[in-house]
Amino acid sequence: MQTLTNKRVLLGVTGGIAAYKSAELVRRLQDQGADVRVVMTRAAAEFITPLTLQALSQNPVHTELLDSETESAMGHIELARWADLVLVAPATADFMARLVAGRGDDLLTTLCLAAECPLAVAPAMNQAMWANPSTQQNCTSLADRGIHLFGPGAGLQACGETGLGRMLDIEEIVIQTAGLFTSGVLAGRRVLITAGPTREAIDPVRFITNHSSGKQGYALATAAIEAGASVTIVSGPTHLDPPDRANCVFVTSTNEMHNAVQEAVLDVDIFIGVAAVADYRPVSVSEQKIKKSAAPSNKGITLELVENPDIIATVANSEPKPFTIGFAAETENIMEYARQKLVAKNLDMIIANDVGDDDIGFNSDQNRTTILWPDRTEALPMMSKSALASRIIELIAETVEKDD
Ligand code: CTP
Repeated sequence: MQTLTNKRVLLGVTGGIAAYKSAELVRRLQDQGADVRVVMTRAAAEFITPLTLQALSQNPVHTELLDSETESAMGHIELARWADLVLVAPATADFMARLVAGRGDDLLTTLCLAAECPLAVAPAMNQAMWANPSTQQNCTSLADRGIHLFGPGAGLQACGETGLGRMLDIEEIVIQTAGLFTSGVLAGRRVLITAGPTREAIDPVRFITNHSSGKQGYALATAAIEAGASVTIVSGPTHLDPPDRANCVFVTSTNEMHNAVQEAVLDVDIFIGVAAVADYRPVSVSEQKIKKSAAPSNKGITLELVENPDIIATVANSEPKPFTIGFAAETENIMEYARQKLVAKNLDMIIANDVGDDDIGFNSDQNRTTILWPDRTEALPMMSKSALASRIIELIAETVEKDD
């Protein structure tokens, strides 16, 4: 299971011989699901080229504080805001001294000053430099300020001496990095969510749709991301900003949603169908706007509809089947219809809600639902769509764990 899914690690590299190991560190952090950006000091660039770390991290490497081009792209404040963790590995004695002094004379120290996220340093230096009282005092100051110290380790050093001061093994740095984050209940799981309405064209200016706002689906995506999952949303048209860190696929019609889901579902563990999918579409879409004059006088017109694919039923009957959760939007006989859908569509869980009630329906920020499993039900009190999303994610995680 990946331990750093969705985490943004800003890796600072300073000028010691251990800088060559930072290339491996980028890779191992990515293996654990982290998004890695690299900032190097000028001295670090004497030991390993920015190009190497750029190619590995797949992001531009930042080196200069006063560079108008990089500042306009992603300056020190943006970098500091972007990061969930600033990890400096290797951290030289000089860098630690500058960090203690609160200097801001290069990009890395400046962004450390600006960063409000946790900060960790992995010292790497000669054993005598490590043992020096100044360095030891600096370490104590950093620890007192809540800065995490990873290592150093002991052993043979590049200078030929033996003792404390080697940078910790990369594997150990990755483990300690992951240990700084409490892993969520869906850590490492891959989740696919459909959200919003779908829209079926009648002619170039008209369509059939429904009142779904997409709020519940987007809230679930955000809750799943916060719980450590990597999330893809296949979304119909909404007015919402997509959740940060979700992979989004935007579609319009049911057939487009069906195709996007078929493609994305291949490597997911959990599928949540929140979309209010249009069950029918016009048999044919008129190429031109349908004119009122086309109808025989006083007769009205008839729109012939054909059934759309059932997206969630296709997913729930595929092999291998992801853990599949549906939503039942009903206006009457809510529990009865929800249970019928749970069984008929081969779902593992279904969330029933009353969309006939304006206070908790499609466009409301509140929702009151009952959750059904094949063998039990649980009624949840009225709550905001985001609180409900967190509760649903907890219940999904508990059920998935039991099934594992
Ligand atoms: N759903 C789907 N594809 C469809 C219709 C529905 O994936 N073509 C999913 C919805 O995303 C939801 C669940 O099926 O998770 C139930 O949707 P709902 O509209 O309540 O049920 P329908 O099957 O459309 O039945 P009815 O309209 O008769 O209530």
